[in-house]
Amino acid sequence: MRSRSLRTRRSLFDLNDLSGPELEYIFERTATFEKKLPKRDVLSGIAILNLFFEHSTRTITSFTLAEKRLGADVISLSPKNSSLAKGETIEDSGITLAAMGVNVIVVRHPEARFPDRLALAFDGHVINAGDGTRAHPTQALLDIYTLREEFGSLKDRKIAIVGDIVHSRVAHSNIEGLKGLGAQITLVGPPPFLPDSFASEGVRVERDFDKALPDCDAVVLLRIQHERFVDGADTVSDEDYVRDYRLDARRLATLKEETIVLHPGPYNRGIELADDVLIYAGWRYAKQVRHGVYVRMAVLDFLVNGKRRSK
Ligand code: CP
Repeated sequence: MRSRSLRTRRSLFDLNDLSGPELEYIFERTATFEKKLPKRDVLSGIAILNLFFEHSTRTITSFTLAEKRLGADVISLSPKNSSLAKGETIEDSGITLAAMGVNVIVVRHPEARFPDRLALAFDGHVINAGDGTRAHPTQALLDIYTLREEFGSLKDRKIAIVGDIVHSRVAHSNIEGLKGLGAQITLVGPPPFLPDSFASEGVRVERDFDKALPDCDAVVLLRIQHERFVDGADTVSDEDYVRDYRLDARRLATLKEETIVLHPGPYNRGIELADDVLIYAGWRYAKQVRHGVYVRMAVLDFLVNGKRRSK
């Protein structure tokens, strides 16, 4: 019942919107939903619009499943078929959608802070499903949930995030979240994908993947985000990348036995990983994807209903 809310947070743009207790609450709710699906009345009467300006398989599908499993009224609008294509601004679309009773918009857009802009005009909850290179908070939540399921506390756990850090909204949100939980983060990649400026307290930059591997508790691989390259910018050839940064059988053999490997997907076989990774005992991709549905259920429930006094 919505009247049981203690307080309601309006929108989720990045992980630093959530306090420590709010983060813990979302993980508790995720675990509850994972154990047992609720009756389909948690979001009854709530209308949710999925508005994706960029391609997606995992995020849009898991949000849609999460919304349906909570009993929401679910609408998907394709931007190219919307009145945005006729010159309507996103602000005016937001006003219009709220007036007809849409309560939540889940939005993905190539422009950083587009969800924040929408939220200024839309009288409802906005969830960032990925904005440019800036943030992908629900992906980071599901990654962190997966890591915590494995290790419990992440304090002092050694997590390597490898590859195209500069273009990766997933990496940016994961760094934010993992730092807050006390993990020791090693960012690994070549200078065009990882400027030295990424180093900060609790976050170090390492160019040599082979040196980073034996010490890691978890390795998070990333896709090279060619679609976000700026023309003329310094880049890295696939050949050089594969030689220096692909996780393959030789490199897997240097990991500790209990080290796990994650990837937000989609992954490119042969580039950031060899097929050996897909049969490695510590490969956690399927778990990440599965957790994505429960994490998104928890985020939707938290934003709309607030914290519940009891389950
Ligand atoms: N990880 C992720 O955001 O995947 P999609 O682009 O398929 O949603």
